Amino acid sequence: MTIRAGRPAVRALQPSLIRKLANAGIGRTDIIPLWFGEPDKPTPEFIRQAAKDAIDEGQTFYQPSRGIVELRSALADYTNRLYRASVTPDNIVVTPSGMTAVSLALQCIVADGDAVVIPSPVWPNLAGAAEILGAEVVRVSIRPHDGAWSLDLDELFAACPAHAGALAINSPNNPTGWMLEDDEQQRILDFCRERDIWLIADEVYNRIVYDRDRAPSFLDKVTEDDKYLIINSFSKSWAMTGWRLGWLTAPLPLIETLGTVSEFNFSCVFAPIQIAGITALQGGDAFIRASAARYRAALEAVKCAFGELPRVTFPVPQAAFYAFFAVDGVCDSFAFAEQVLRECGVGLAPGAAFGPQGEGYLRLCFASEVSLLERALDQMRPLLV
Ligand SMILES: Cc1ncc(COP(=O)(O)O)c(C=O)c1O
Repeated sequence: MTIRAGRPAVRALQPSLIRKLANAGIGRTDIIPLWFGEPDKPTPEFIRQAAKDAIDEGQTFYQPSRGIVELRSALADYTNRLYRASVTPDNIVVTPSGMTAVSLALQCIVADGDAVVIPSPVWPNLAGAAEILGAEVVRVSIRPHDGAWSLDLDELFAACPAHAGALAINSPNNPTGWMLEDDEQQRILDFCRERDIWLIADEVYNRIVYDRDRAPSFLDKVTEDDKYLIINSFSKSWAMTGWRLGWLTAPLPLIETLGTVSEFNFSCVFAPIQIAGITALQGGDAFIRASAARYRAALEAVKCAFGELPRVTFPVPQAAFYAFFAVDGVCDSFAFAEQVLRECGVGLAPGAAFGPQGEGYLRLCFASEVSLLERALDQMRPLLV
């Protein structure tokens, strides 16, 4: 029997190249997996305990579709503490993951025939979530320049077609570690205001930054009159990838729609997970600082190893925990990642997974112990010299 998906946009979707490669490694216990984007350590114990207590108390019932008020209040406090913002609990919608927050945001604002403009390379799910809705994805290149990644804002603005409905920006960026500065964010916001288009900002790596405490955020700049949707997640900052907990910050006029769309997508998030989120927000700052220090040491180890390899070009990331690097002579990143897996026993993500702009690159997640990274880099060396 041939089963055909109904909507053309769904039929046209391509599977993730990262998953495709990782499937080739299933069952192998001898590989060092650096292909997925997650910390190597489990969630801190005090956060896990909060969820266990809530389960033991019997908090197993349906919850409000926009999230429990205690978590929305804790998120508003966290936001106002971290940024020059004054959001209220009513500006916030709790979601079962950053991924779902992206989907909800796009479901609420993408109209038929809209284009969504996305600086790339980028986390594949951002573009995929727009494509599922039938949006045309327009990619604008983030390029290496003088050893770092950068985006030419004039090029970005020029690439926004008349039918653009939204600009979707992931900064700090997965996979490059590129990060927008405050003045650049202000120019982008001014452009969205002028063109009357939505700004979707995916800021899930905002606490994993190497030269300051947190990344510049659109939350420092937007007002209630702006068309903005800001996505965040507990996955990266608090090592909670498997829990599936995220949130959206949005202007009040959109909140009711977001609540309705949440209801028809997932109804609500499990209460013990939301309670774990409150605990993370209230007691997790030391964990965030310690993680940033670990990732900084890991980045130094990667820089040091790649620095000795003239065939490797490695624009240094400002944020997030990925090394996105090119190897002289490598044009087919999937084939090369397969070779690295087969011959070196190291799992990397092929750059092509992040859009055509990523072809020729490989992504290595360095959120691991330095000793493990050094072993992986050593094993890869024969293919990099
Ligand atoms: C840029 C970006 N946004 C959002 C997410 C989603 O995070 P989650 O769905 O785990 O909350 C990820 C995960 O890798 C990501 O890299």
